[in-house]
Amino acid sequence: MPKGTFITFEGGEGAGKSTQIRRLAAFLRDKGLDVVTTREVGGCPSAEAIRDLWLSPENDYWDSVTELLLIMAARREHLVKTVFPALGRGAWVLSDRFADSTRAYQGVGLGLGLDKVESLYRLVAPDFAPDLTLLLDLPVEQGLARIAQRGDDDRYQQKDRAFHELLRQAYLTLAQKDPLRFRVIDASQSEERVADAVCRAVREAFSL
Ligand code: TMP
Repeated sequence: MPKGTFITFEGGEGAGKSTQIRRLAAFLRDKGLDVVTTREVGGCPSAEAIRDLWLSPENDYWDSVTELLLIMAARREHLVKTVFPALGRGAWVLSDRFADSTRAYQGVGLGLGLDKVESLYRLVAPDFAPDLTLLLDLPVEQGLARIAQRGDDDRYQQKDRAFHELLRQAYLTLAQKDPLRFRVIDASQSEERVADAVCRAVREAFSL
């Protein structure tokens, strides 16, 4: 079993995950802790190469099962090359998205079903789960307005409102089913207040 601590950030588009990861990393580093920030899909050169292939505009259509396999292949690379070594030396690993993204986006949003996602997850990460998952939750309209402002328009960001509502509900259901691992954070608040809520959740979870 890894010695370190694995914290994942999840949520729909425009929830502010990257900003909050940066802030939590600074908070933990101030305490003298070894912190690694990473992301999915990606997080090591081979997984980033899969991400580029997956999101490149030339490949604008993927069969949904192929897409799931690509994401899971990237996850295996990320775990073996970045996450497990860092946890093994006792680091705090903060990941921008992880398996709950696949459950919400591919399992529910794209309709593949959670069984398919879970069976592949068991292959790439047997007996492994984050120690804590922070779900940054906000109304879909607000998230979409934020990404419109940023000018982002990747594959899923372009999907319609109903798709994003489905994602939000999927995430909230996952959180409800696993209250020990999840904390739901109201991400519609100011950046400062969200950062406070994130730090509080981490301090409480790990008695820091
Ligand atoms: P990002 O914008 O958070 O970097 O993520 C890129 C896109 O990848 C985002 O729209 C969510 C999507 N994604 C999935 O569909 N399934 C997954 O398992 C992961 C990790 C991300």
